[in-house]
Amino acid sequence: MKIAVRDVWRQYNGTHGLVTALEGIDLEVGEGEFVCIVGPSGCGKSTLLELIAGLQEPDRGEIIVNNGGGKPVLIFQEAALFPWLTVQGNVEFGLKTQGIAKAERHETALHTLELVRLRKFAAFYPHQLSGGMKQRAALARALALDPPVLLMDEPFAALDAQTRDIMHQELQRIWAETGKTVLFVTHNVREAACLADRVLLMTARPGRIKDHIEVTLPRPRSVSDPALTAVAHVVLDHLKDEILKVEQEAFDGAWTG
Ligand SMILES: Nc1ncnc2c1ncn2[C@@H]1O[C@H](COP(=O)(O)OP(=O)(O)OP(=O)(O)O)[C@@H](O)[C@H]1O
Ligand SMILES: [Mg+2]
Repeated sequence: MKIAVRDVWRQYNGTHGLVTALEGIDLEVGEGEFVCIVGPSGCGKSTLLELIAGLQEPDRGEIIVNNGGGKPVLIFQEAALFPWLTVQGNVEFGLKTQGIAKAERHETALHTLELVRLRKFAAFYPHQLSGGMKQRAALARALALDPPVLLMDEPFAALDAQTRDIMHQELQRIWAETGKTVLFVTHNVREAACLADRVLLMTARPGRIKDHIEVTLPRPRSVSDPALTAVAHVVLDHLKDEILKVEQEAFDGAWTG
């Protein structure tokens, strides 16, 4: 087992009192598994990734990551590269803070940039890159640290549809080449069906794991595959009630407020 989350609870102090974001989350992710999490807005998906990344502490429960030394790395919707560093500088930055010597940093960065097919752009600055290239750079920066787990929070949500399709192909290839364990949050059920070995469905807030769906389609998968559409529909059917709950709450709030 790579990640084990047991009975994890998380509350926030909101402007209208306590908000229970997560309520008794249990999940396990196997070594090398690709797991997608889908759920309505505000159900606690980002909170869950931040807890696993160690950026927040749970109020209750425990999180175990079999890490062999490294820490899970979290990749966000915005690539969040340092604008004053080149692509290579960005990739080397984390290695530098770990005290890794210059020659090794250099070699690791170039190797990782090769993996994400960005080596030719090593000397470019972030503002000179397209959105897809920025996400490749963010992926390289994460992979250079050789993390035990890659946590991805809607990493492709801001990309146009064509670039997103390419990134789906690329992420499948990189995952196959590196054997990384991936936990990937998305709103996009087709994306989940394309990438996941297993899709976890969360309820509307307070977030709980409601269900899971195994995806056994052969890889590499393409979002335009009709078989994939069928899986995406199954996921969406499971999700519908939860999305309705969120909409209802928003409307109720508007009427009573
Ligand atoms: N720092 C915070 N302070 C107060 N409330 C918070 C904080 N962070 C998150 N919340 C609340 O906790 C709940 C879960 O938030 P979270 O960002 O984890 O949801 P999400 O599933 O990632 O949503 P989305 O799909 O919109 O990204 C929401 O109701 C949110 O308003
Ligand atoms: Mg979120």
